[in-house]
Amino acid sequence: MKIAVTGAGGLIGSHLVEHFAPAHEVLALKHADLDITDGEAVGRCVLDLRPALVINCATVEVDECEGDSKLARAVHVEGPQALAQAASRVGAGFIHFSTNYVFDGREIGRAPYAIEDEPYPINVYGKAKLAGERAVRQACSRSAIIRTSWVYGAGKKSFLSTAHRDLLAGKRIRAVSDVWASTTYVADLVARIVEILAAGRYGTYHVVNEGVCSYYEFALEAARLAGLTDDRVKELIGVIQEVEAKRLAPRPRYTPMRCLLSEEIGLSPMREWRSALADYVRTSTTFTSSESR
Ligand SMILES: NC(=O)c1ccc[n+]([C@@H]2O[C@H](COP(=O)([O-])OP(=O)(O)OC[C@H]3O[C@@H](n4cnc5c(N)ncnc54)[C@H](OP(=O)(O)O)[C@@H]3O)[C@@H](O)[C@H]2O)c1
Repeated sequence: MKIAVTGAGGLIGSHLVEHFAPAHEVLALKHADLDITDGEAVGRCVLDLRPALVINCATVEVDECEGDSKLARAVHVEGPQALAQAASRVGAGFIHFSTNYVFDGREIGRAPYAIEDEPYPINVYGKAKLAGERAVRQACSRSAIIRTSWVYGAGKKSFLSTAHRDLLAGKRIRAVSDVWASTTYVADLVARIVEILAAGRYGTYHVVNEGVCSYYEFALEAARLAGLTDDRVKELIGVIQEVEAKRLAPRPRYTPMRCLLSEEIGLSPMREWRSALADYVRTSTTFTSSESR
């Protein structure tokens, strides 16, 4: 199958490309290859390449969106809409990523958000992502919207992706203890996308590892898995509240998710977040030590 991946240089895009490349003709379109905010280029590119599947992984970060709502709309609404229209024109399927940030997360301790729950985004990024979902659904009937949350894995510099390595290197980190969400190991996300494609059912999915944690709980578990002593953990992990992080965009406080559509089509529950994190810490610390030899 011919698969075009936009935003292919990012965390999810690069892992999808790596997964699909051996068995498919993969067109890995990094930002420099295709700017999805250039509607004409998007149309031309998809019509020229005529892929059977387009996977859109392009995004700009939450705080950047808060400071630039025009950019947020261009990348998260107009770009995906143009891609979905072009995909529809060539009869391709379309996979588009969205986020737990479409929910307001106000009710701490609530049941995980399901697809039936009404979204109420509280920041510019979340609002744009929600509008993007709607634009994609309208533009391409063969589309799957994958809402995911707190994704981590090799190749990204982010709190979740590097906490265990930073701690092992003796770096102090600050971890927010009053914001909770589902986490998603990118390898598990890719595996679930493969299952969704095999099932051939379009719709809206929530793809996350089971369970919920705060950034602080995630860091504690990463430290434990990396073999740090309790004293070292106390020394290296500073606990802070969200308000102290002074981030530009407000974060929804409590957004665990659960996937009714996966359940309906018989996909097994994704593994629990601690088990996924254990896999990541094991593989990435092994990689580090062989790299440094
Ligand atoms: N990572 C998460 O925790 C998370 C959580 C929920 C949902 N998601 C969703 O998952 C998707 C992929 O996220 P990710 O974590 O893989 O993001 P990422 O690692 O930040 O990668 C995004 C990629 O998009 C590229 N890009 C930015 N603007 C673009 C444009 N106008 N045209 C084409 N490419 C552009 C970036 O390139 P440059 O860096 O060169 O600009 C970057 O390579 C997004 O839809 C995101 O909203 C992610």
